[in-house]
Amino acid sequence: MLPTGLRVAANNRRLPSSRKKIARGRPSTHDGRIALRRSITPHVINLDMTDMKTWHYGLVARWWAEFNTDGPEIGYFQRIIEQNGTPALDVGCGSGRLLVPFLKSGLDVDGVDASEDMVRFCRENVQTEGVETSLYTQPLHELDLPRKYQTIICCGSFGLAGTREDDLEGLRRVRRHLKPGGVFAFDHYLPTAHAKSWQSWVRAPEGDEPRWSKPDRRKAKDGSELVLQVRQLSLDPIDQTEVREIKVEQMRDGECVASEQMPLNINLYLKSELVWMLKLAGFTEIAVTAGLEDRAPMPYQDHYLSFVAR
Ligand SMILES: C[S@@+](CC[C@H](N)C(=O)[O-])C[C@H]1O[C@@H](n2cnc3c(N)ncnc32)[C@H](O)[C@@H]1O
Repeated sequence: MLPTGLRVAANNRRLPSSRKKIARGRPSTHDGRIALRRSITPHVINLDMTDMKTWHYGLVARWWAEFNTDGPEIGYFQRIIEQNGTPALDVGCGSGRLLVPFLKSGLDVDGVDASEDMVRFCRENVQTEGVETSLYTQPLHELDLPRKYQTIICCGSFGLAGTREDDLEGLRRVRRHLKPGGVFAFDHYLPTAHAKSWQSWVRAPEGDEPRWSKPDRRKAKDGSELVLQVRQLSLDPIDQTEVREIKVEQMRDGECVASEQMPLNINLYLKSELVWMLKLAGFTEIAVTAGLEDRAPMPYQDHYLSFVAR
């Protein structure tokens, strides 16, 4: 499940004049090394992929851990695990939104995530609930775990923060971590999911600064207020990549005490590309359904899909 802010894409794409990162509170483990550099057109920017990271660090990780705690994905992926068997692995497990309920249901599921901050929050949640699991910090394309799994799931985490080659390598590694006959299931938002973004595949937007989404304000456990906003910095219809930027501000008594801002590269995939990538990675049986449902996807109606591959 994406945070509410992610559903709103700003329509303008020119580079922001500056990137800021004020951290007067606890410093984020995100080191801000990702460099933005201008490319040849004003509405397309490229991220320097050498230091690419996801944006789930610091205050963003905290937002996920505090406010993204339920959703229909939990039941859907739990059924997949129950039907196909354990041990299972939750790839991109985040702060444990799905993993912790799986463990509480008695399922043998491990978790792995690229962000050490998300893994730390996940570990805290696991301990609070008094359940047990093995957690690892690794990006998908470097997946290298000591165990093989009957089922591997990946919710809301595929195609983030890497190159297309990384994504294909990730699928290969997932396959290598499956026991014979094992199943890999993941969900995916098509680029058509956001009408405004989809329009920009055919026409560059006009305007100046990329616009931030409406602020999403939530009360945190420590009494401060967290304010999340997202904007789309660019969409490149040739490379099929989108760069979004997220900002979380922490407010106390009406004053901003910390602010973190990070970009994220998202690789955009259509259905058939993912099917071919799964085949290239060695999967032979691939079922695609409407997201979290057991029915064929419908043109114009479904922009969110589920893939089950073996
Ligand atoms: C949208 S959150 C979803 C978290 C969890 N699956 C859920 O549904 O609540 C995406 C997660 O994927 C992780 N992630 C992003 N890119 C990744 C990658 N290349 N490899 C592994 N994890 C990644 C992020 O750190 C983050 O925890």
